Amino acid sequence: MPLDIDFVRSQFPAFSEPSLQGQAFFENAGGSYICQPVIDRLTRFYSQRKVQPYAPYEASALGGAEMDEARLRLAAMMGVETDELSFGPSTSQNVYVLAQAFRKFVNPGEAVIVTNQDHEANTGPWRRLADEGIEIREWMIDPQTGHLDPTDLEKLLDDKVRLVCFPHCSNVVGEINPVTEITALAHAAGAFVCVDGVSYAPHGLPNVGELGPDIYLFSAYKTYGPHQGLMVVRKALADLLPNQAHYFNGGVGYKRFTPAGPDHAQVAACAGMADYIEMLCDHHGGPSQDDTARAAFVHDLMRAQEVKLLQPLLDMLRERNDVRLIGPDKAELRAPTVAIQLNRPAEPVAAKLAELGIMAGGGDFYAVRALKALGADPDAGVLRVSFTHYTSEDEMKALIAALEDVL
Ligand SMILES: Cc1ncc(COP(=O)(O)O)c(C=O)c1O
Repeated sequence: MPLDIDFVRSQFPAFSEPSLQGQAFFENAGGSYICQPVIDRLTRFYSQRKVQPYAPYEASALGGAEMDEARLRLAAMMGVETDELSFGPSTSQNVYVLAQAFRKFVNPGEAVIVTNQDHEANTGPWRRLADEGIEIREWMIDPQTGHLDPTDLEKLLDDKVRLVCFPHCSNVVGEINPVTEITALAHAAGAFVCVDGVSYAPHGLPNVGELGPDIYLFSAYKTYGPHQGLMVVRKALADLLPNQAHYFNGGVGYKRFTPAGPDHAQVAACAGMADYIEMLCDHHGGPSQDDTARAAFVHDLMRAQEVKLLQPLLDMLRERNDVRLIGPDKAELRAPTVAIQLNRPAEPVAAKLAELGIMAGGGDFYAVRALKALGADPDAGVLRVSFTHYTSEDEMKALIAALEDVL
């Protein structure tokens, strides 16, 4: 059964919101619309459970239980242990804290590998470890295609490397990197692996346990949820890294790398992301048991829909010789996050799209290093159009027509 788009859209109030009518949303990689189950939980938390959680009175116990539920259900969907998943204010902040932990874990003279394909969140904090005498090696993209070649990584790996950081998918190149293959190379060299999944997770929650990295991060606010950063740190690594939380919380896996007090309501509301995935699974006749199998079913459903809708856009852009499509022109190789280099600054073009009812953005999207490596001027920026499974065929047609108009 293909994705039931009417059912999907009925779960997102934005699609029936009067002030948003006549506008098609194509800045999903910046932040997605939020689904009804998350809104319901957030509303319930603020109206019924907004007290300090985990105390022995009902409102508090329910609030604490709902926070635990979010962690338990999402961890199960991602194929990891409950204690291996934690919530922090954002992915940028989560990486920052992890980098503080690695600062004391990696010795001067040892090495960390970063890419120039990443959003700054998963590269800048790691590069700062150079201050400690840690060697930073850069795994560089192909300047024409933006592709990250695993053979180039092999040349950088040796027994000094302790950590390899890369994106599951870049927010401007869009190509899906082979996480399992890259992780196997890094692990064989004795290095740990940190994957930024922010641009991938909205297109189907990954089975992190199966993919194999030691760290996997993504942002709930781009994945139909509230403004939270979700972070998996596998136990074998978490136990080795120095605790970054209050000293008495160091023994609790999901607290070790989240020194900030949690946003209780938003953590609890993240259980609504699990509700939504389960709802999609049931509605489309997916498996009734096994959380990872249910999430995988929904992942494939979303991917198939997105791939189908993406290809005509890529075909249209590939045919034009006045713009540069960044990243692969085959939909199955990439996420539907499409950056377009123009021969002029991108933001005014995004403004013209807005006049035609297309919400999109222009800029560097904090992927300054990737744009520079691709020979694109970060000040002029790129036009980026990004969608998800809830985008309709009519919206895609409207986008293509509008692009033909403004490009
Ligand atoms: C690929 C990627 N990684 C990391 C981030 C940072 O996420 P956060 O805003 O949660 O810090 C973003 C945000 O745009 C992103 O697109």
